[in-house]
Amino acid sequence: VKTFRVHLAPLKNASGTVGVVAVLRDITEIRELERMRTEFVANVSHELRTPLTSIKGFVETLLDGAVEDKLLARHFLDIISEESNRLSRLIDDLLSLSHLEEKDASVNKVPVEMDKVIANIVSMLQPQMKEKNLDLEPVIAGNLPVIMADRDMMGQLLINLLDNAIKYTPAGGRINVEAVPAQQGIKVTVRDTGIGIPEESLPRLFERFYRVDKARSREMGGTGLGLAIVKHILELHGGSIEVNSELGRGTVFTFYLPA
Ligand SMILES: Nc1ncnc2c1ncn2[C@@H]1O[C@H](COP(=O)(O)OP(=O)(O)O)[C@@H](O)[C@H]1O
Ligand SMILES: [Mg+2]
Repeated sequence: VKTFRVHLAPLKNASGTVGVVAVLRDITEIRELERMRTEFVANVSHELRTPLTSIKGFVETLLDGAVEDKLLARHFLDIISEESNRLSRLIDDLLSLSHLEEKDASVNKVPVEMDKVIANIVSMLQPQMKEKNLDLEPVIAGNLPVIMADRDMMGQLLINLLDNAIKYTPAGGRINVEAVPAQQGIKVTVRDTGIGIPEESLPRLFERFYRVDKARSREMGGTGLGLAIVKHILELHGGSIEVNSELGRGTVFTFYLPA
């Protein structure tokens, strides 16, 4: 379906109107961008309001007297604390995303040794993996080229993919990270033995706020923005990403970055 904006003007000569001039402008794309913007604002408002509503509710209950019951009060305060953390994660992710979407997003390209970044992030996430009894030993090719990239963004990219692998893999599972040279750059694979993603969800996975299972993502503390951020970081570096998944068996994300 296409949308046109039509301007009509009468065509006149000495004897009067002899015809009409029609100017058609294809505004399909503009309309689509407007629609996406409106939808995004609605999504953001909803995502921000949900934790806020919960915080307000529990604060009111406390003020109404629940504060006298020490045990109950403590329970409500735990929820309030958790919901505030969610709000601040959301705001952090929204700021990252808007920063990445700026026209000339500042990418501070420096020589990056990806094996070092991977080792860093893996050790950072070790406590979370230990808690779920997940195993991870990165496999790095010896001849991995140094790439020109923004170091912080490379860290963010790996955190977001590994955080998902950890969240969506049941205890006792396995996560693999592999980095090899490929097409004048590098290819990094993040593989897990987790719950997998249904085929029909794959095309929408990198959309902002898209989740396969809203309740599960929420329970895990997700914002639904992690993969949108991943996609933007790769675009800014001239890279790309692919995903393969089998429901109940696991997921593989593979990204490429030029050297
Ligand atoms: N490794 C994975 N295994 C299973 N599902 C995943 C994995 N990575 C991402 N997903 C799905 O993609 C959705 C979007 O991911 P993301 O943008 O990181 O948001 P979230 O904050 O929910 O983690 C998740 O909600 C989840 O449904
Ligand atoms: Mg995530």
